[in-house]
Amino acid sequence: MSSDVFFELRDVHAYYGESYIVQGVSMKVNKGEVLALLGRNGAGKTSTLRTIARADNPGMTRGEIWLEGQPVHAMKSWQASQAGIQLVPEDRRIIPGMTVEENLILSQVAPNKGWSLEQIYSHFPRLAERRQQEGVTLSGGEQQMLAVARALAREVKLLLLDEPYEGLAPVIVEEIEHIVQDIKKSGITTIIVEQNAVAALKMADRAVILDTGELAFEGSAAELLADAELRNRYLAI
Ligand SMILES: Nc1ncnc2c1ncn2[C@@H]1O[C@H](COP(=O)(O)OP(=O)(O)OP(=O)(O)O)[C@@H](O)[C@H]1O
Ligand SMILES: [Mg+2]
Repeated sequence: MSSDVFFELRDVHAYYGESYIVQGVSMKVNKGEVLALLGRNGAGKTSTLRTIARADNPGMTRGEIWLEGQPVHAMKSWQASQAGIQLVPEDRRIIPGMTVEENLILSQVAPNKGWSLEQIYSHFPRLAERRQQEGVTLSGGEQQMLAVARALAREVKLLLLDEPYEGLAPVIVEEIEHIVQDIKKSGITTIIVEQNAVAALKMADRAVILDTGELAFEGSAAELLADAELRNRYLAI
C-alpha cells in the first residue's frame, strides 16, 4: 500500500455464520479526518465497524485492512485495540458495579495508554462531576460520554463511533458533537456511523454509503449533502 494512506479496507468480506453481510467493501480514510459511514437500517454499518475492530463476529473471510502499514486483517480484537483501533459500540457497555473513574482506570490497564484522567475530565466536565457515581446510573448521554472517554483512555489512532447520538436529546447531541470536534483537533481519525445523517455530515470531511453490504457512494460530505437524489435513495433525508 502507498505509505500516505492512513487507513484502508481492501475488498473486505465478512459473514455471520452462513449470512453474507459485508460484501466486498473497499475504502480509504485519511489521517485526521472524520468519515461518516452511512446507509439504511441493516446496510451493514455496525458489521463493518466490528470487522474493522476484528471482533470474532462477523467473521472476515477475505480482504485486507491496513492501519499505517500494519495488517489489521491479521490481528485479533485485542491486538487491533493495542494498535490504536477503538470501537465505541452502540450499546456503550458500561461496566456495572464500577464508578465512572473505575471504568476509565480499567480501560488504562491494557497498553497503550491514551489521555490521562486529568485530560479526560477537562474535556468531559460532566464525567468529572460524577467520577464517584456508578457508571450504569448515569443518564444515556453521560453514559455515551463515558463510553467515548473510555476509548480515549487508551491510545487511539482510529476511533469508531457506532450511533453516538442515538436516543439522546438535541442538547446532549450538541455536547457530543463538541467532543468529536475536540477529538478531531487532537489529531485522532474518526469513523462515525449515524442514523442522523445530517448531524454526521455536519461533522464529517468525507462520507461513504453502504447498501446491502456494498459501497454505494464515496465522496465529500458536501457533495453528498448537495445530492438530493443520493440522499433520497439511500438515506431518506
Ligand atoms: N449477530 C448477527 N447474526 C446474524 N445476522 C446479523 C447479526 N447482526 C447483524 N446481522 C445482520 O446483518 C445485516 C447488517 O446488520 P448491521 O447491524 O451491520 O446493519 P446496520 O447498518 O448497522 O443497521 P442499523 O442501522 O439498524 O444499526 C442485517 O441484515 C442484520 O440482520
Ligand atoms: Mg448498526
